Amino acid sequence: MPMNSKEIRKKFLKYFEEHGHKIVESSSLLPDDPSVLLTTAGMQQFKPYFVGKANPIEDFGSLNVASVQKCFRTSDIDEVGDETHLTFFEMLGNFSFGGYFKKEAILYAHEFITKVCGLQIDYVSVFEGDEHVPEDLESGKIWRSIDEKVNIKKCGRADNFWGPTGSEGPCGPTTEIYVKNASGNSIEIWNLVFNEYYQNSDKSLRKLETPGVDTGMGLERLAMVCQNKKNIFETDLFEPFINLFVENAKEINLNKNFNIEKNLTDTVKRMLVDHARGIIFLISDGILPSNKDAGYIIRRLIRRYVSRMYQVGSLFGESLLPMVEFYKNFYSDIDYVKIDSIFSDESSKFLKTLTVGLHELHKLDAIDAVIAFNLYQSYGLPYEVIKDFGGNKTSKLNREEFEEEFKKHQEKSRAGLEKKFGGHGLILDTGELKAGSEEELKKVTRLHTATHLMQQALRNVLGSEVNQAGSDITAERTRFDFTFSRKLTPEEIQKVEDEVNSIIEKDLPMQKTVLPKAEAEKTGALYFSKNKYPDIVNVYFAGKTIKDAYSKEFCGGPHVNNTGEIGKFKIIKEEAVSAGTRRIRATVSF
Ligand code: ALA
Repeated sequence: MPMNSKEIRKKFLKYFEEHGHKIVESSSLLPDDPSVLLTTAGMQQFKPYFVGKANPIEDFGSLNVASVQKCFRTSDIDEVGDETHLTFFEMLGNFSFGGYFKKEAILYAHEFITKVCGLQIDYVSVFEGDEHVPEDLESGKIWRSIDEKVNIKKCGRADNFWGPTGSEGPCGPTTEIYVKNASGNSIEIWNLVFNEYYQNSDKSLRKLETPGVDTGMGLERLAMVCQNKKNIFETDLFEPFINLFVENAKEINLNKNFNIEKNLTDTVKRMLVDHARGIIFLISDGILPSNKDAGYIIRRLIRRYVSRMYQVGSLFGESLLPMVEFYKNFYSDIDYVKIDSIFSDESSKFLKTLTVGLHELHKLDAIDAVIAFNLYQSYGLPYEVIKDFGGNKTSKLNREEFEEEFKKHQEKSRAGLEKKFGGHGLILDTGELKAGSEEELKKVTRLHTATHLMQQALRNVLGSEVNQAGSDITAERTRFDFTFSRKLTPEEIQKVEDEVNSIIEKDLPMQKTVLPKAEAEKTGALYFSKNKYPDIVNVYFAGKTIKDAYSKEFCGGPHVNNTGEIGKFKIIKEEAVSAGTRRIRATVSF
């Protein structure tokens, strides 16, 4: 009996546990590393251990760890539908931070694939070397010593060198294992990376003090070869759900003009099932639909998914339920109610314009990048939907040109913003505070002090989980971002507002003291962790003395002299910016 995916997970973790690895939970799809949008590899959560910034013994009690990591690769979105590509997938990986290196890593991989999974390796690849990094002769020799007949291919940097995730990071030569699937195609199953180098942001390489091992094997691909299937969608990870889609579609096909057999092609079904998983896991990790960064990725997935489901006339959220139930066995924090509510909200908003947008699209004869971008702008139709529904009309449309239009538009709106602030006409621009005239400066100053008071009030009402994540103040409003895990209740918002207004009424003096940074920190003054501060800093505090001040913060000013000058403080809006980060807009008036 071939192993099902549950057994594969278990065997993988068990094998590495028995070989001295500590099992570590998957990290979130939303990484800590701000230079990358989403988690694309198992090694991401371990970056600090590879570069000596964190201690694996302290944190894991071991130099070696193994995990099953949730990953999402936007770069593969156009490939979804073929035999092996997905957006969301799970990566099995073993890692070592100075515990073992090439020999053990290759021995483990070989034993796991051939003995535990009972598979035959078709060939392996090793790095052939280039002008910067020598050929990986050692890996070749190790493979040869294990199996003298193994077929070894030598490849260059594009195939056998792992570059850093984000702008810099650990990297090094790789050796990859290929196994044939049921169609006879040789599939890359496992990538073993030997992190010998660190790539700096200028792309130069330096040797790492302690070389490390980072391996990654797609659970879906491994299931395909273990279960002897022609593609990943025939494995137990997908097949039940694909069938459900088809059955559901047949049962509730409300659209009489829609021929299910003809329109629900393999590619469409695969896309639906891939996107459903992506939607579930992205929402589950707190990524909300928006027009930016990771928020835009989930928005695109939902729109693409909804456009197809809409054709079928199917129920939307409910089609995700069986999948959520399945993954709950492995990720207990998946919350169907939350997923369904965000998904339903976003899809019903989109559905309102979809019909109109598709109607417009059908009237057009040919669709180029400019027209496509207009359809996106006006009706929210993402590139993929236009391409899917436009058929031959979009034969000249490609993603690069569409992205180009997108960029042009973003530049234009940025230019518009600069114009609004009078271009170089700003009399104050600290990055955080912007004012175009004396009048605006006064208002911005009041809003600035109000922002300090609000941060303290938020901490008093919500707890010290609240930390500044960003701030932007114009004459119209203050916009303050802070860390907090959930939406504020109306009562909490009211409490914060009332507290700020009560401090305003007390008319406390707003004072400044200049202190060495270490002294300033001792006062308990808040500071923005993302900022770099000089050795001597200003601390602004609202109160008679710094000791009994209501609020204290490292800050460059300007501020009002007394809180009474602020006037009435009002919170206008509270919303999410990203997972774990909230945004408040507030105004002041007399
Ligand atoms: N980090 C390597 C990969 O993702 C293992 O392929």
